[in-house]
Amino acid sequence: MKQTLLKPLSVNDLITMKRRGEKISCLTAYDASFSSLIDQAGIDIMLVGDSLGMTIQGHETTLPVTLDDVIYHTRCVTQSRKRALVIADLPFMTYTNPQLAADNAAKLMQTGGAQMIKLEGPKLDVINFLVQHGIPVCAHLGLLPQFINQLGHYAVQGKEPEVAEKIIADALQVQAAGASLLVLECIPSSLAKTISQQLTIPVIGIGAGIDCDGQVLVLYDMLNIGTNKKPRFTKNFLAETHSISEAISAYHRAVKEQLFPELEHIFL
Ligand code: KIV
Repeated sequence: MKQTLLKPLSVNDLITMKRRGEKISCLTAYDASFSSLIDQAGIDIMLVGDSLGMTIQGHETTLPVTLDDVIYHTRCVTQSRKRALVIADLPFMTYTNPQLAADNAAKLMQTGGAQMIKLEGPKLDVINFLVQHGIPVCAHLGLLPQFINQLGHYAVQGKEPEVAEKIIADALQVQAAGASLLVLECIPSSLAKTISQQLTIPVIGIGAGIDCDGQVLVLYDMLNIGTNKKPRFTKNFLAETHSISEAISAYHRAVKEQLFPELEHIFL
């Protein structure tokens, strides 16, 4: 019998999922072994996040992560991936102008094998330039971990009406600039719902409620690995299962069936 070869999901597949109302599952991944388990569980997107600064390297923030670090981990992840779309983070200060961003994004794609890059904040000129050159962009709004030294601490963003309005305006602008996907981190659920409804591109939430088009979690948080205090918006999926594979599958099902996040994981 002819075997069907799996091909990685594309940006268009994600947009089709949003149109059909099918929730999108996403987990961070940093190496080939986990990448294989995550892929086999059917997770739609793997994000090689600069959270690797904390989970892998033991730093307190994402700031020390270099472009070479993300290239290396992206290569490890794409090595064993078959179906999931792979996004790689542009680290702190690697996209301060459009040309620098394009040069660095190209390395993540050419050497790392990423299909899309993610960057923090409404960097409209950078997003526009990357998209013009064939680089799909995932924007990231709400809590921006690369701004931790200005923020002071990791806190919910957009509780005040004027900040909420700014996040909505930024979301519309990053979409207009050409972003294909948007991550919303740590914002009130009602705000994330409004944005998800207004945008045509898929919105992936982390600490942003059930009404986003999909969910992302940091792998080590949902497996409860590491000594760091886990954020309120995460859930230990390993506690209810017997293996890492089962925990990842349970997370995937919970996202698809809209059973995660629960009330205890959201901000009002
Ligand atoms: O770096 C990362 O893992 C991220 C997620 C928290 C969205 O940006």
